[in-house]
Amino acid sequence: MFSLVEPADVRWIFLSHDDVDHTGNPEETISACPNARLVCNWAMVERHTNCFEFPHARCRWVMDGESLDIGDRVLHALRPPVYDSPTTRGLLDPTTGVYWSVDSFATPLPHPEAPIADLDAEFWGFGLMLFSLGAVSPWLSLVDETKFGRYVDRVQNLDITTIAGCHTPVVEGPFIEQAFAHTRRLPSVDPPKLPDQSVLDQVIAATAQPAT
Ligand SMILES: [Fe+2]
Ligand SMILES: [Fe+2]
Repeated sequence: MFSLVEPADVRWIFLSHDDVDHTGNPEETISACPNARLVCNWAMVERHTNCFEFPHARCRWVMDGESLDIGDRVLHALRPPVYDSPTTRGLLDPTTGVYWSVDSFATPLPHPEAPIADLDAEFWGFGLMLFSLGAVSPWLSLVDETKFGRYVDRVQNLDITTIAGCHTPVVEGPFIEQAFAHTRRLPSVDPPKLPDQSVLDQVIAATAQPAT
């Protein structure tokens, strides 16, 4: 990242939630960027204090639905429809239409750079369901579909041109509507059967080094 911006020029560091694949190395980042403020929230401090000493005077708590004026633009923090922590905040930049969706729209990929247009439609739909219900938000099987649909509307009605997330290819164009449609159905689909010990046994057998 520091090949793009000087550490002293970093003004804001946004923590989307308290999962380690999203928090990274906050101590190093905070100390390397002395002019940055840490965008987080109360629940994150409560849950993450066991492994990170929050510099309270440098924190800016943002509630779900609030805006954040970062100088040249005002960002909107809005929790995405699928999430795995109460601390989660998505982030919309209205000047570009880019929405950071955190763990929403997560899907397995054949390789990390796979563009969404290259994914087989059925593979993508099943993968999004598998990850959403199996690895992020299994409780969606318990919720009322109509009520959840209104919650999905809240995000989909934002002026989004591009979705970026932690576990998905960039979602653009017609794929945005499809991604929301897949997500909207989550409360009513049968939860997927998840890999169990028999699958782990197969993985171990397939990756075992031959005896020399
Ligand atoms: Fe997460
Ligand atoms: Fe994640």
